[in-house]
This record gives sequence, C-alpha cells and structure tokens, in this order.
Amino acid sequence: MESIWTAETKIQRRDPLPGDLETPAVVIGAGMTGILTAYYLKQAGIPAVVLEADRIGSGQTKNTTAKITSQHGMIYARLTESFGGRMAAHYAEANEEALREYERLILEKKISCDFVKCPAYLYSVDRQNGETLLKREAAAAKSLGIRASFEKDSELPFPVAGTVKFEDQARFHPLKFLDRLSEEVTVYEKTKALKVEEGLVETGRGRVSAEYIIFASHFPFINVPGYYFARMYQERSYVMAVEDAAVLEGMYLGTGPLELSFRPQGELLLAGGGNHRTGKNKRGGQYEMLKNRVKAYYPDCRETARWSAQDCMTLDGVPYIGRFSAGKSGWYVASGFGKWGMTSAMVSARILTAMIAGQACEEADIFSPQRRMTGRAVKELFIHGMHTVKGFAKRLSPCGDGEIVPNCPHMGCRMEWNPETASYDCPCHGSRFDKEGHLIDDPAQTDCEKRKRNHYV
Ligand code: FES
Repeated sequence: MESIWTAETKIQRRDPLPGDLETPAVVIGAGMTGILTAYYLKQAGIPAVVLEADRIGSGQTKNTTAKITSQHGMIYARLTESFGGRMAAHYAEANEEALREYERLILEKKISCDFVKCPAYLYSVDRQNGETLLKREAAAAKSLGIRASFEKDSELPFPVAGTVKFEDQARFHPLKFLDRLSEEVTVYEKTKALKVEEGLVETGRGRVSAEYIIFASHFPFINVPGYYFARMYQERSYVMAVEDAAVLEGMYLGTGPLELSFRPQGELLLAGGGNHRTGKNKRGGQYEMLKNRVKAYYPDCRETARWSAQDCMTLDGVPYIGRFSAGKSGWYVASGFGKWGMTSAMVSARILTAMIAGQACEEADIFSPQRRMTGRAVKELFIHGMHTVKGFAKRLSPCGDGEIVPNCPHMGCRMEWNPETASYDCPCHGSRFDKEGHLIDDPAQTDCEKRKRNHYV
C-alpha cells in the first residue's frame, strides 16, 4: 500500500554518518521540514547536516496529499476569536508566504515536480448551518489579507451548501520536489538519533556536536523537557487514488467530520477521509467506506492506489514551531502540523532559520511552543489526558483468549490492532508497530518485545 508519490520516485541513497562530527547545526529528520530547514540555514550562512533514521522522505512526507495551501479547515474565524486579529494575521501571512516561497523556489531552480496553481475550497453539505459558517470563515480569512470568497456553486458531484474559495493555492509532487532540493543538503541516512544532550546528538554511527539542534522528525521523541507527548496526539487518515473519475480544477476539503477531501493529480483523483485518533480503528472499514463513497459519485472510476497518513494534532490546532523548551537555548522544534504538512514545513523552515540567524520574525509568536493556552487547548488537554489514563489502565487488564495485544514501550499504554494498516497502534500518543513488533512511528523509540503468552511489552 504505497502512495503514488513513492511508486513514481526513487530518491538517491545517501551514506550513513561516517563517525563523530562537529557542525554549526544538526537537523533530526529528512522529511520536507528537515530538508527545507537545512536548505534555508545554508542560505543564511549556517551549515547544517541532516540525520535520518531511514531514507530521505520515508516518513510522513511520502504519505501526504501534497496540497500547498493556507486554507487549513475552518481556522481563521477560530484563530481570530482565540488569539486576536494580529496573531491570526501572522498565521495567515506565514502560510501565504510559504505558498509564494514554494513557487519562487520551484521556478528559480526549475524543479520539475508537477507544480500547479489552483484554487482551494472548503465545502459544507450542512443545509442548516453550513452557509452561515462558511460565510463567517470567508469573511475572517478576507479580513486577514487572504483572497477568500464565499461561493454558492461547486464542481463537486453532490449538492453543497456553499464553499469558501481561496485563490492561487497550489499542489505538487512532494517527493520529486524533495529529491531535487535534497541534492543541495548534506544528509546522513540510516543514522538514527538515539540521545540528545546540550549541544550533542548521539547516534549509533557517531556523535554530532552542534550549537543548534532542530527536531524535525514528525513527533519529538524526547519526553522531558518539552512534554510534547502531553500536548499532542496523532490521527490517521486514508487516501485512495482513482482513475476515470472527473478531473476537478480545485482542491476540496469538507468541513464536517464525515466529509471527504478531493484533489486532482494529473488524470487521477485523490479522495481522502476516515480520520480517527491513532489506536482507535479496531473495526477497520475506512478504505471500504472511501471506495463505496467515491464509487457512488463516480460509478466508472477504478482504484489505482491506496495509502494512509499519520498527523500530529496540537491542543489548539496551531503547530509548535520555535524553541523546544524555555530551558534549552540551542534546541528548536517543528511539529504538530495537523493535516497541513507541506505549508507548515515551509513555515517552519523560514521561522527557525530566522530565529537561529538572529533575524526578526514577527510571525513566530503564534507558532511558539511556549504560547499561552486557549480555552480550547485546556479542554483538549483534559480529553487527551483521559485517553492516556484509559490506555494506561487497560495495560493491567487481561487480554482476550488468543488475542495478542501489546503494550506500548513509550509509556506502557495498551495498543490496538488496526486491520487497515496491519499494525499495532497506540491510542495514547500514536506510536505504531508492525505485526512483528517493529517500530513504525514515534514517539516510542524501541520495538515491542515479546513476552510470555505471546504478549508484547
Ligand atoms: Fe505513548 Fe504509546 S505512544 S504510550
């Protein structure tokens, strides 16, 4: 079940770290965020090396739907209400600038990566409240400087209450872009960061000394300081590529929890949905749901690929980009991008580079990991905490007859089998393991080990 991006791109292999090394900056993780950050640091005169546990782009970047957009769901009315107009405008401007920067970079370097400018739409099928909420969101986005408008009609194959249109957004092929840009960056593959101390990253291949350490590995694997495990959870979602469906002009995201997203890629249509908290899909059926719904809209379509993605969700819906923790002067982090990894990667690279280079960056305040907690964040903290308590309590209960249910090595929560991805997924913070217990996703750092009666610990 690989994405269409992986199937079409083979990124050149890099050597592992050859031994101990000293460098001004080290980036952990060679996904879109890590590569972009190392690239911009280099442009700013700060050489950086990137350490990657596996291969370039082998984490979440290969599973994205690759929308480059400042339209991040119904966010602008909420941000304005929670943080005020100035902070909300910083969020909007940082993301609009990220869009422009992708375009500038792709043109400057002539990167062949299927980059297409197109509008992005939020849609609602809620006949009762949909139009009112969409109009409110369109007005909020417009007041923050985004070219947004409410539209009544759409090209979708089902009736909608309306859409919010953002002009001049874009889509591209993420791995073609990453392949080309990573040529300009020093990357060591198969080099897993095992331990991080002040100015030092230890790997199984050697130690890297650096004044600046940037955590760009999806979920920060250090528990303390930072406490990101308590401030984030992870979600899984599912994507299906089909041919012989209508080729849409725009990219679409539904505002309701059951609505699908749509985005064209050449002759294909990518449909996404089935979101759930990681570790909460025991019954499965998400791909089947996607297939049935897309088939209902486009009866002649045929599935060509399917894959799933994992996203880090923050308590207030805004990424954590900036100082890792108040007590660690040289540590920086970029995480919690929600479903918006491509624009957030560029926002992270630009903000972190400015901070490290000592340049002014007024957009940084809204993304600061040390920002104040909103009312929504406090509520989410409680809900997230309850999931962790339940997951941890379950570890003490017996497993069903013949059922193999591992406990997670991160903090010990009982995991659940996800039939969709054939993996053990942790509901507490989202670590994942294959059926043999090998680690797939952070924040856990080790495999599950088998214990008596075929249980894992
Ligand atoms: Fe934290 Fe499993 S990911 S306990």
